[in-house]
Amino acid sequence: MSTSEAEQSGLPELPGLEVPEQLLKPTSSGPSRQQEPAPNNPPAEGSKPGDIRSAEAVSTRNYQKFPIPAPLSGHGPARVIAMCNQKGGVGKTTTSINLAASLAGYGRRVLCIDFDPQGALSAGLGLTTHNVSTIYDLLIGRISDPHQAIQPTEFENLDVIPANIDLSAAEVHLVTEVAREQILASIIRRIADEYDLVIVDCQPSLGLLTVNALTASHGVMIPLECEYFALRGVALLIETIDKVRSRLNPSLELDGILPTMFDGRTLHSREVLDRVFEVFGDKVFDTVIGRTVKFPDASVAGVPIVEFAPNHPAAQAYRQLARELVARGAAA
Ligand SMILES: Nc1ncnc2c1ncn2[C@@H]1O[C@H](COP(=O)(O)OP(=O)(O)O)[C@@H](O)[C@H]1O
Ligand SMILES: [Mg+2]
Repeated sequence: MSTSEAEQSGLPELPGLEVPEQLLKPTSSGPSRQQEPAPNNPPAEGSKPGDIRSAEAVSTRNYQKFPIPAPLSGHGPARVIAMCNQKGGVGKTTTSINLAASLAGYGRRVLCIDFDPQGALSAGLGLTTHNVSTIYDLLIGRISDPHQAIQPTEFENLDVIPANIDLSAAEVHLVTEVAREQILASIIRRIADEYDLVIVDCQPSLGLLTVNALTASHGVMIPLECEYFALRGVALLIETIDKVRSRLNPSLELDGILPTMFDGRTLHSREVLDRVFEVFGDKVFDTVIGRTVKFPDASVAGVPIVEFAPNHPAAQAYRQLARELVARGAAA
């Protein structure tokens, strides 16, 4: 048996997976679930202190845990969330699309920024990425007004700044720019007042674009596939978040780790999820996204699963994630 096989079967301690104290400690803005909830910040309905966070509990949970958010009386300024994991195929784009659509459905004005040259978010929301202004044009200054690149979707309250393959040239262009890490932040600042939430769907890398996304954000969400090797990259990602936080964006918070592609029928998936709860504790969202073939179907149709199959458990899970985010104070 090779080392990796031995490791895979036994799920040993994960070397290097120490979470920096600073990252997990509560920051001034937004509640942290590391502590007892403050009196003016009661726990969401149905979630009791001492809830068991385990893979077993996940398979029996319902999706009615968090209350439907109250309507907003006005809009903006937006909270910005980076959807980040340098591993591909973990559910960043799927989560960006469905979280955005769910929050838009709750009356929040949401802007998604496609920050991956693959353009999967743009395509997943039914938009064309050819012969249109994109985030790349804004980054390199070919256009200066973000409104020139914003496209409405067919869903109310949900807009997108698309991306296409041009974006793969951005890092090379930006390297010589002044304040190259802050360019996305300055773009978002110009439109923040018009939205309640901006979600930046990052590409699978920890390069300059992702650093721009982290610098522009109030919070970062990490979708994490319930698969052993997925855990290994998280230490490096958290190190990057920590560096951005100490050098560029002191108020950056880890909004939470979202387990995705959980398959409660396999021991492997359950073991990984338990390990995620063990290592990251309350930083793990209560909501866990199951593995289902409905996602690829919805992607092909170019609509969020919350629209494609609104009663599917995966759609219910994403709507619950939206409500959980609001209950945690990470979205309006
Ligand atoms: N919970 C899930 N169950 C099954 N397939 C999923 C799930 N979430 C996403 N997928 C599919 O996995 C692929 C990668 O997901 P995606 O969201 O594009 O990941 P990323 O943006 O991290 O690369 C897509 O084909 C998507 O439809
Ligand atoms: Mg993606």
